[in-house]
Amino acid sequence: MSELELQIDKRRTFAIISHPDAGKTTLTEKLLLYGGAIQMAGTVKARKSDRHATSDWMEMEKQRGISVTSSVMQFAYGGSIVNLLDTPGHADFSEDTYRTLTAVDSALMVIDVAKGVEERTIKLMEVCRLRDTPIMTFINKLDREGREPIELMDEVESVLKIQCSPMTWPIGMGKRFKGLYRIYDDTILLYGAAGEEPKILQGLDNLKLDQILGPDAQELRDEVELAVGASPEFNLSDYLAGKLTPVFFGSALRTHGIDEMLDNFVKYAPAPQPRESESREVAPAESKFTGFVFKIQANMDPAHHDRVAFVRITSGSFRKGMKVRHVRAKKDMAIHNAITFMAAKRGAAEVAYAGDILGLHNHGTIQIGDTFTEGENLKFIGIPNFAPELFRRVRLADPLRAKALQKGLIQLSEEGATQVFRPVMNNSLVLGAVGILQFDVVAYRLKNEYGVDCAFESVPVATARWLEFPDAKQEQEFQRKANANLARDGADTWAYIAPNMANLRLTMERWPEVKFHATREH
Ligand code: G4P
Repeated sequence: MSELELQIDKRRTFAIISHPDAGKTTLTEKLLLYGGAIQMAGTVKARKSDRHATSDWMEMEKQRGISVTSSVMQFAYGGSIVNLLDTPGHADFSEDTYRTLTAVDSALMVIDVAKGVEERTIKLMEVCRLRDTPIMTFINKLDREGREPIELMDEVESVLKIQCSPMTWPIGMGKRFKGLYRIYDDTILLYGAAGEEPKILQGLDNLKLDQILGPDAQELRDEVELAVGASPEFNLSDYLAGKLTPVFFGSALRTHGIDEMLDNFVKYAPAPQPRESESREVAPAESKFTGFVFKIQANMDPAHHDRVAFVRITSGSFRKGMKVRHVRAKKDMAIHNAITFMAAKRGAAEVAYAGDILGLHNHGTIQIGDTFTEGENLKFIGIPNFAPELFRRVRLADPLRAKALQKGLIQLSEEGATQVFRPVMNNSLVLGAVGILQFDVVAYRLKNEYGVDCAFESVPVATARWLEFPDAKQEQEFQRKANANLARDGADTWAYIAPNMANLRLTMERWPEVKFHATREH
């Protein structure tokens, strides 16, 4: 293997998907501690955004420097280099989360043992399914009373439509949580007091287990037999195809069950994968650098529209000072001040490989979905806009600021902060979002960064679909007959904005040859 192949093979780039409060932040801190990035652990908690109201978000904006650098956390574990991409926990920022999931090679699903599969986990799984992303599962908070493990796995299978293969099994739960059985190598771990190393026993049929656990030992054997008998054995190709999830149990808070999960994660989770572009598939070990932008974050100085674009490297390597082409802008530039996200030595990038993330400073020239190469005119696909679920009409306080409003909204939509629709029937501007807080953020930023005061009012739109017409004739006919609900989005693509789901269904039935897409490529 070449040095490049070796480096890429070591990389594991993933994100955590979970419902708020399942333990993502706690687990992230523990993962970083394992990876030796101890100095970072505090910052994760500090910037946790899940339960924050808008005012907190605005306060947080003042600390944007922190949020940029902890958006990607790189740590070493067991010979691998792991990139953990943070996803905003708050449902109101879920567009960012959705797009971050297009930049990872696998995901870790965290489930609260007492709550099981929750609403946001279901949504995030749907997004993972668009690319058949491989998923590992960590069932958390076993130090608390919760639901029966078998019942939880059943729920994952039936609700999330993915097979479960238990890799570890909890010995008791809540106050009686005594340890874990590692199904994959027939080993028992019994936890002692905090800080003590666990006692290790080989083999589930080990008689010492009966001495220590008494009648619980047989109960454990019966339970494991039942669970293993009822679930498929771990199978790498089914995991990689997104059809089966290996399941681990533990407690992030007590740091139990985490190394079992991590050991298997670095062993089985996929290294950087090939990526489709409009013209060809790009393999990670190609010598030439390529990458795409999956997220844009407004940075320190709002007055200057200073932003950081997050680039997932898809092939080759990046060296400081390297000349790259910004394909959409048809511009070549040398990049000296890219941010890399190594926990140990953060700062300007020296070298980064496929699978790693780069942060590029810019002033609004870079958009989500943009491709960077060493000269080839490629365009990566699969970094979509997602159909918004909430809509508001913009009401401008001062009509003379209409131009500034347009400019601001277009820039904010390029950043992914909101989506803009212009209905053909009137001159209004309709904003679309996935979470309600996005509107407050947009209003705040329009005022602060673009000097535009505006308010939002409700609008009878329930959902949007991007349209694809089979030919010009159908396009014209659709314009004539359905123009009451027709709009152009920020990128001038036709969109159908439906007042309710029934209307959308009916329109789709009426126009069988027109495609109604729930996502739009950039
Ligand atoms: P999130 O990022 O997914 O939203 O969850 P987070 O890690 O913040 O955890 C949510 C709450 O659950 C926190 O409690 C956290 O301490 C607790 N928690 C996480 N993992 C475990 C676990 O393994 N066992 C138990 N018993 N609790 C766990 P909190 O009271 O809301 O916050 P804090 O004041 O403790 O930080």
